[in-house]
Amino acid sequence: MRSASIFLVSCILMFFIMNNVKDVEAGLSPMDNQCGRKDIFVGGCGPDGNKTCINDFVKKGGEGNRPSSCECDDFGQEHLCRCNFSC
Ligand SMILES: *[C@@H]1O[C@H](CO)[C@@H](O)[C@H](O)[C@H]1NC(C)=O
Repeated sequence: MRSASIFLVSCILMFFIMNNVKDVEAGLSPMDNQCGRKDIFVGGCGPDGNKTCINDFVKKGGEGNRPSSCECDDFGQEHLCRCNFSC
């Protein structure tokens, strides 16, 4: 019983480590620095990329995820948001 639960915990830990490694490789993770983050979203930047990106982050992470300001780069079907967070 005991070793089975240790095994389970290691599996879960492994899962999280693997996930983090994948995020770092994709270069889209907030790993580097909480104050500045970037992410890719579908759709265009719209007339105000700053606002579009802020809304994207809020939609993804909730109100606690609201950036103070953003820059938006259009890629046609997608846009890259580079945002500053207060920290
Ligand atoms: C982006 O929008 C936020 C909130 O509307 C504003 O406070 C900020 O100054 C804007 N930043 C830029 C670069 O326009």
